Amino acid sequence: MPVYEQQLEKLNKTPKTWLITGVAGFIGSNLLETLLANNQKVVGLDNFSTGHQHNLDQVKELVSDSQWNAFNFIKGDMRDLKTCENACSGVDYILHQAALGSVPRSIEDPITTNENNISGFLNMLVAAKNADVSRFVYAASSSTYGDHPDLPKVEDKIGNPLSPYAVTKVVNELYADVFARTYGFKSIGLRYFNIFGQRQDPDGAYAAVIPKWVASILENETVYINGDGETSRDFCYIKNVMQMNILAATSQNDDATNQVYNVALNHRTTLTELFHFIQDKLKSRVPGLKETELVYRDFRAGDVRHSQADISKAQSLLGYEPSHVIDEGLEEAMDWYVNDLKK
Ligand SMILES: NC(=O)c1ccc[n+]([C@@H]2O[C@H](COP(=O)([O-])OP(=O)(O)OC[C@H]3O[C@@H](n4cnc5c(N)ncnc54)[C@H](O)[C@@H]3O)[C@@H](O)[C@H]2O)c1
Repeated sequence: MPVYEQQLEKLNKTPKTWLITGVAGFIGSNLLETLLANNQKVVGLDNFSTGHQHNLDQVKELVSDSQWNAFNFIKGDMRDLKTCENACSGVDYILHQAALGSVPRSIEDPITTNENNISGFLNMLVAAKNADVSRFVYAASSSTYGDHPDLPKVEDKIGNPLSPYAVTKVVNELYADVFARTYGFKSIGLRYFNIFGQRQDPDGAYAAVIPKWVASILENETVYINGDGETSRDFCYIKNVMQMNILAATSQNDDATNQVYNVALNHRTTLTELFHFIQDKLKSRVPGLKETELVYRDFRAGDVRHSQADISKAQSLLGYEPSHVIDEGLEEAMDWYVNDLKK
């Protein structure tokens, strides 16, 4: 049986208490659904800066009443240490997702990104250490590779960060590492590549490419590609992210802790290819969908040209076995987008 299934079986037999920060966001709300569906107790923290109540409402619809009653939501801000201490109390595992995402947002307002992503992160580390939690798993980022030219990306070879957002994610890793050395604190960083799936926000100036394009194609609006379309990414479906978080939190392998891992597929898709994948999948679901205009424009500051992850470290140390390649993930995600955006 794959390690992930074994861990889920164990958790179902002996439920744990988890804290998910950023629980009303895209990845956080998916973690909430996965943990509640596996009969865990969950505390959630969010200030709704980019997350939404409707994400929590949707999870409520998807789990049983008794599973939902095992969820305790705290509306609060991790920039406040007391709020973090309150959220960490009595918790076994922390899945720290809260942060301000988006490279362009950080270029426009580096101070707010820094306050949330660095000061907020440090508050969470201090609160988690003082609460003596068993494991602190945190959302790191592929942006940490910066200008390092090698492909695929291997965890111990990073370049210079290319945006304020990337700086914050590098600093998170440095703090986690120092907490391990100084206090014996156990953490694992997950360098997410481009994650996609249900509940990823299609709205707003900083929306991620897949939900933004799906919404544009369905509304018959022009789709813009920054650059020549050959920019590539290792797009990774949300269910693989669920697996990595659970494996990271529950791993009993001492060599696996105080490490960072790529969370991806080791597969590269160009933006032009991605556009055609999405358009074809939507055409087969929405009869009479009109042809979308595709326009190439200037490259965007701070963007990395190519991204593809070596995932062998997660495979060997954590037993990661991605369950969905990009095509399978897009199939599931498209059904959700078509249904959700119609509402
Ligand atoms: N989605 C991706 O492709 C991707 C890639 C790399 C890294 N990440 C990282 O993964 C994490 C989750 O990303 P996501 O895509 O789910 O983003 P998201 O914006 O949907 O979720 C982030 C959540 O954190 C909350 N939050 C932000 N600041 C907060 C604060 N000060 N106090 C309390 N809550 C706060 C937001 O309200 C939101 O609900 C982030 O750390 C992000 O940097 C995501």
